[in-house]
Amino acid sequence: MNIKFLGHSSLLIEGNGIKALVDPFLKNNPQYIEDKNDIENITHIFITHAHGDHIGDAIEIAKANDSMIIANAEICNILYFLHNDLNYHPMHIGGTFNFDFGRVKMTPALHGSGYTDKDNKIQDGGNPAGFVIEVDTKKVYHAGDTGLTYDMKLLERERIDVAFLPIGGNYTMDIDDAVEAARFIGAKITVPMHYNTFGMIKANPIEFHDKLLGHKVIILKPSEAIEI
Ligand code: NI
Ligand code: MN
Repeated sequence: MNIKFLGHSSLLIEGNGIKALVDPFLKNNPQYIEDKNDIENITHIFITHAHGDHIGDAIEIAKANDSMIIANAEICNILYFLHNDLNYHPMHIGGTFNFDFGRVKMTPALHGSGYTDKDNKIQDGGNPAGFVIEVDTKKVYHAGDTGLTYDMKLLERERIDVAFLPIGGNYTMDIDDAVEAARFIGAKITVPMHYNTFGMIKANPIEFHDKLLGHKVIILKPSEAIEI
């Protein structure tokens, strides 16, 4: 599978039977480098939680491509009420489903998930989540926004090929906590995300790399990709 980092927490995942976005925060994402290919023929859109920097442009992209939106049941319900012509697959924490392209597991995240509606009212977006997504027999873990939890130790059993972890602090794990998380998870490759997009989440990914001794860290710049 090929994974392209689109800046912040946005990924484009391509493999056999899938061209998916995870947390497609593009238009208002200061790190995003525009490329039409990122929003064409999108089969699936994964949303980890309802915050604006994660739902991002999901609706617009789903409408244009008839993509399937995969998110927790509360987010699917909110979005269905607003756009009942879209395709939803609700899941929930700890749940696994075998899609045509492979297996997906929704994992816990320690964070919020309030959905801000057009009247600026907050709706309950359920529990925030992460995803383990299997494509072409490889597994990518997108942690979503989360603090460090000991539950991440359980992800060791998943034998993750590449883990994307937030390191920016303030809203999520900082570098030291993300180092601990990466050790719990033991992915073959760890990639930092959710940093330097906004003033409150400044972090130096090289420091993360240097502190995570004995583990392979790849720092992806926005629009860079890895093939696993
Ligand atoms: Ni968030
Ligand atoms: Mn966020």
